[in-house]
Amino acid sequence: MKIVKFTKICCLLVFAIITIALPVIVSAEEPPRNIGYGRGGRMQGGAISPRSREPIKPIPISFDDNRAKTDLGKKLFFEPRLSKSGWITCNSCHNLSTGGADNLPTSIGHKWMLGPINSPTVLNAKFNRAQFWDGRAKDLKEQAKGPIANPMEMASNHDLAVEVLQSIPEYVKLFKAVYGEEKITIDNVADAIAAFEETLTTPNSRFDSWLNGYDDKITAEEKSGYELFKEKGCISCHNGFGVGGNSFEKFGAAKPYDRDTQTLGRYNVTKDERDKYVFKVPLLRNIELTAPYFHDASTWSLSEAVNVMAEYQLGMKLTNDETNKIVAFLKTLTGDQPEVIFPVLPPSNANTPQPNRN
Ligand code: HEC
Ligand code: HEC
Repeated sequence: MKIVKFTKICCLLVFAIITIALPVIVSAEEPPRNIGYGRGGRMQGGAISPRSREPIKPIPISFDDNRAKTDLGKKLFFEPRLSKSGWITCNSCHNLSTGGADNLPTSIGHKWMLGPINSPTVLNAKFNRAQFWDGRAKDLKEQAKGPIANPMEMASNHDLAVEVLQSIPEYVKLFKAVYGEEKITIDNVADAIAAFEETLTTPNSRFDSWLNGYDDKITAEEKSGYELFKEKGCISCHNGFGVGGNSFEKFGAAKPYDRDTQTLGRYNVTKDERDKYVFKVPLLRNIELTAPYFHDASTWSLSEAVNVMAEYQLGMKLTNDETNKIVAFLKTLTGDQPEVIFPVLPPSNANTPQPNRN
């Protein structure tokens, strides 16, 4: 009888310890993560990844929490009437069919004007700490107002762009539904475009699957490329969700970069001598899709880009074998591309300002 009672108490005690202590131990290891279906329909999260301490983080699955706003932003992203010519859209230079960039050395804008700098991808741009090569826009919303009024890009102006949208009753209805007022503002135009851009992430790359614990998603060669990427020091600048985008660094950190000495980078924003030739570190996600490389588009070859980085940023020369392995690793960073259903745009009417090609 006594023994039974003693065992009972022991059992209770053990049970109490387990229920109180276990959640504490488990939660100390890693905070709970979102579980759900993201783009591609696969489920992520839940299981604790053995690689959660790696300096590159898997792209989180994005959830569309304001569908009316992102749908409006999508229309505007594909809206040629935001340009003076009625012909150029955000998608002209950030083509979602080709990795969110235009695959040109520099973009073609209004009246076929050639821009001064290579167009970066809009995919995963939300992971950039600031926008543009020199970081002159603090976020996507601030950025989106720029190209509409840039004379070399869409060449419109904010008043005209708003006038065009305001003249179209269907747009008025859509803006009212999202922002609660019939008066359209350039701030709300930019806000909607930015919300759409937030959805343009590329989860489920093979590398992210490997980070999430699926060992066979990358090959031995790709894995040793990643090891080299860390050992040689690439990781010090290219890390986090976007494998870049977290800092401003000098192009020519180890050896002066001499192919382009005209583009001053961050200096344009800060006017600080030390910021000459300093650029926002680009994202390396989907890098195989977005040649040519560098702000001056000085190479079409990813291998050459890697070698230039080793030479000018790290002051070293890689063997062919090392370069090939790093390139193989970089190609595992291509994720699921956004599947965008081409938006249908409401028609112009007699009140809509007409396109002007001059
Ligand atoms: C004529 C080509 C062109 C058009 C049209 C255009 N862009 Fe760009 N975009 C560029 C170029 C070139 C840059 C880089 C400019 C710089 O850094 O100085 C850029 C930069 C960006 C960036 C910053 C990305 C980064 O990594 O820093 C975003 C985001 C972006 N554009 C979104 C848009 C949106 C939204 C629209 C439409 C409202 C648009 N662009 C229209 C060419 C274009
Ligand atoms: C000191 C910081 C730093 C280090 C280290 C570094 N990078 Fe970069 N990386 C940058 C910057 C800054 C740029 C943008 C240069 C420019 O075009 O102005 C860049 C650009 C790139 C690009 C071209 C991206 C594009 O979209 O055009 C690739 C590819 C790249 N780096 C790979 C690497 C690899 C591989 C290594 C290691 C061998 C490496 N980087 C080391 C800072 C760094």
